[in-house]
Amino acid sequence: MNRTRTNDRFARTRKGAADSGTGGSRFGSPAPRRSAGPSRSGGHGHRPVAVQGEFALPRTVTPALPAVEGFADLDMPGELLAALSAQGVTVPFPIQAATLPNSLAGRDVLGRGRTGSGKTLAFGLALLARTAGRRAEPRQPLGLVLVPTRELAQQVTDALAPYARSVKLRLVTVVGGMSIGRQASALRGGAEVVVATPGRLKDLIDRGDCRLDQVSGTVLDEADQMADMGFMPQVTALLDQVRPEGQRMLFSATLDRNVDLLVRRYLTDPVVHSVDPSAGAVTTMEHHVLHVHGADKHAATTEIAARNGRVIMFLDTKHAVDRLTQDLLSSGVRAAALHGGKSQPQRTRTLAQFKTGHVTVLVATNVAARGIHVDNLDLVVNVDPPTDPKDYLHRGGRTARAGEAGSVVTLVTPGQRRGMVRLMSDAGIRPQTTQVSSGGEALRRITGAQAPTGIPVVITAPVTERPKKRGATSRGRRRPASATRRPARRSSAGEAA
Ligand SMILES: Nc1ncnc2c1ncn2[C@@H]1O[C@H](COP(=O)(O)OP(=O)(O)OP(=O)(O)O)[C@@H](O)[C@H]1O
Ligand SMILES: [Mg+2]
Repeated sequence: MNRTRTNDRFARTRKGAADSGTGGSRFGSPAPRRSAGPSRSGGHGHRPVAVQGEFALPRTVTPALPAVEGFADLDMPGELLAALSAQGVTVPFPIQAATLPNSLAGRDVLGRGRTGSGKTLAFGLALLARTAGRRAEPRQPLGLVLVPTRELAQQVTDALAPYARSVKLRLVTVVGGMSIGRQASALRGGAEVVVATPGRLKDLIDRGDCRLDQVSGTVLDEADQMADMGFMPQVTALLDQVRPEGQRMLFSATLDRNVDLLVRRYLTDPVVHSVDPSAGAVTTMEHHVLHVHGADKHAATTEIAARNGRVIMFLDTKHAVDRLTQDLLSSGVRAAALHGGKSQPQRTRTLAQFKTGHVTVLVATNVAARGIHVDNLDLVVNVDPPTDPKDYLHRGGRTARAGEAGSVVTLVTPGQRRGMVRLMSDAGIRPQTTQVSSGGEALRRITGAQAPTGIPVVITAPVTERPKKRGATSRGRRRPASATRRPARRSSAGEAA
């Protein structure tokens, strides 16, 4: 992966980055005093009235520290700076440059940055830097990242693992669908930072395997999706257990009114960094609406899937995902299905196979729409057009990340046209609209579509050579393929779920 890039494709926003009165950015300096107690939401003065469905940004009372030019200007442990350059991350992206001076000083942060703009490191570096040097007691983590999906939890753990390792912090991933015993035992062994989906974390707390009263840094990633998925009661119950005076950070590409409660109740005088959420603002992303006849849509979809190169195809239901995947496999396309009806080992394996190129088409529901990063993915196809502009933005955001180029293609049958015009206008996007047909030149030019081989394929789990453990006995217990292929690096910095 080419990580040494410049940021000039991102519009710099210095909103809220005025000269500071917060008394310097000394690493580890305490956060401004909170008005603890039930009225945590108070103190923002007048809040703009929210338009229906829209989100009113809170006011920052204490001015924010200005954005930095480079990572070296930040008050971070040297080990983290060294890890950044070892990873080839040399220049902070705008959301990192703007929020890190403040988050490192302990301020609460509300960050709305476009898909692929580097939010994970924005919150991750702050959380790790402020936790570095401390040691968690068994079952009592010091930092918490809450995310909506299991895949995202694993990805955040993987993204932060080299940095955590550099400052000797232990990461644990806590998600449903995987052995709770393993997660409990990792917590018992002591983990400074937990990356979790809300439901499983609650289960572990209920079992007495985890408590949050030592958590002094909490991050909510994709908070609006957690709200959309109905996790809000669990999220607030968890937030009520962390240290009341601790730091909270909330990041997403989209924020809506459902997040309002979280912001008012749990963020105190937050520094706000917010850029235009419109997907149209990701300048490296092309948007295409392809008009296709209903009877021809399946053939067109198959030809797109048969392109040379990877693609994610989004559909609305698990059933539709399974059906298309089967059809693609029979046509000779290396496709795999990802949705909430699959077991977690299957989900993990599928995503890994897509990331390594073992399968070239990921057919998915919205479970893959948020946060997931796959290198060199230049095409996302909405086989079923999304109905919510936010879904359009997040699905499309799986491509054109970190300054790379990519296209989002939405297949639209005649009956769907009117709804699509409205959705695009709500999303603030002016797509290029083209009439296409299977076998046609326009479809080939825009998507790289080509005829599939027609020779059915079966996707098998890649065989991994594993040295036989001495003394290992076969007790007839089969381990899922994903477990046998666990990358070695996780065992040191992050015990995966
Ligand atoms: N400063 C940087 N320099 C180079 N690459 C970076 C930098 N910061 C982040 N990246 C890379 O950019 C990619 C996207 O980052 P990330 O996944 O954090 O985006 P995001 O803002 O969380 O997107 P989404 O809204 O889709 O979740 C990752 O591959 C990450 O490693
Ligand atoms: Mg993200």
